[in-house]
Amino acid sequence: MTLKVGVVGTGGIFKHAHLPGWLSHDEVEIVAFCDAFKASAEATAKDFPGTKVYDDYRELIADPSIDIIGISTPNLYHSEIAIAALRKGKHVFCEKPDAINPDEAQKMADAARESGKLLMTMRNNRFSEEAKFAKRIIEKGQLGELYTGRCGWIRRRGIPGRGGWFTTKELSGGGPLIDLGVHMIDMAMWLAGNPKPVTVSGSTYRKFADRPDASGNIPQGTFDVEDLAAGFIRFDNGASLQIEFSWASNIEEEKKFLEWRGTEGGFSLINDKLSLFTENEGALINQQPLFTAAPVPQHTANIRHFVECVLGREQPIITPEHGVDMIKILSAIYESAERGREIVL
Ligand SMILES: NC(=O)c1ccc[n+]([C@@H]2O[C@H](COP(=O)([O-])OP(=O)(O)OC[C@H]3O[C@@H](n4cnc5c(N)ncnc54)[C@H](O)[C@@H]3O)[C@@H](O)[C@H]2O)c1
Repeated sequence: MTLKVGVVGTGGIFKHAHLPGWLSHDEVEIVAFCDAFKASAEATAKDFPGTKVYDDYRELIADPSIDIIGISTPNLYHSEIAIAALRKGKHVFCEKPDAINPDEAQKMADAARESGKLLMTMRNNRFSEEAKFAKRIIEKGQLGELYTGRCGWIRRRGIPGRGGWFTTKELSGGGPLIDLGVHMIDMAMWLAGNPKPVTVSGSTYRKFADRPDASGNIPQGTFDVEDLAAGFIRFDNGASLQIEFSWASNIEEEKKFLEWRGTEGGFSLINDKLSLFTENEGALINQQPLFTAAPVPQHTANIRHFVECVLGREQPIITPEHGVDMIKILSAIYESAERGREIVL
């Protein structure tokens, strides 16, 4: 059986990551491309003779021969398209963040449950060899109880699509917290066994929006989101997580990081390099696992996992409930920053 895929949104991440992911699976066939900017869908479709092209996702999801809808549009549209597609009986693979607010994320989860179809959101960072290895040793209890951690993705200068949808709150839901935070907070929570978040506290800043860019040009377009967010999350098992995300800040260099400290050992995953910190025979041990197999790109691995789940050969490791918890956390951090106090979830 070949699963027929229709995609909505043929921009940057679709071309860079989704297309290779779908093409890597020999039980999948892309049959239609949809983009609000139709010329983008048409240009992509040229390489795939016989595929259909749309500029309205409602026409795409009305095609009864399509099994899967892949969504890679700006964040605002994820929930609307996912819910409509699920209600038409399609399985849905959606880019992160699931939605721009918790109500929409919950509606997506409800639509998935009611339709009995699979809804999965991209969590590509869970699929690196380093993250999977860390998950295995944590599950075997080798690091003991994970009780406190830090994670972040901090850029010195790296504002995406300045003046476009990324920096427009109505379309994106926020700045680096929702854009980068979803990746690293998700990986931290997944590795720690998905504890339930109970309180959050956060601060957000917008210090680079109005500055001239590197060529001295005054930026045009909307920039009404933060460029840095910092915060603190408490979980129901007593664990805590410090977080920090920036698109621009005066630091030495860009860094993507996650650390958990456990009672028997800890680890850091810094720019995708894993280090383990344990103790043996009275000595402190530092280890750096090396992975010799050629890695499957993270996004491809995530899409392949989704397809295997649709085919009933794997159980989803990413659930709509993870998405609801994630968007609740992000939304509460924005609320905490606005109100200047801790928020109970
Ligand atoms: N997982 C990752 O590593 C990763 C990386 C980058 C972006 N993303 C996510 O992917 C999504 C897309 O990001 P991007 O960088 O590709 O953006 P992009 O702007 O390059 O592409 C978005 C595309 O969607 C189209 N579009 C806009 N509204 C639409 C609508 N209503 N219906 C159909 N098409 C529509 C646009 O014309 C554009 O071609 C975002 O949600 C972003 O957060 C994920």
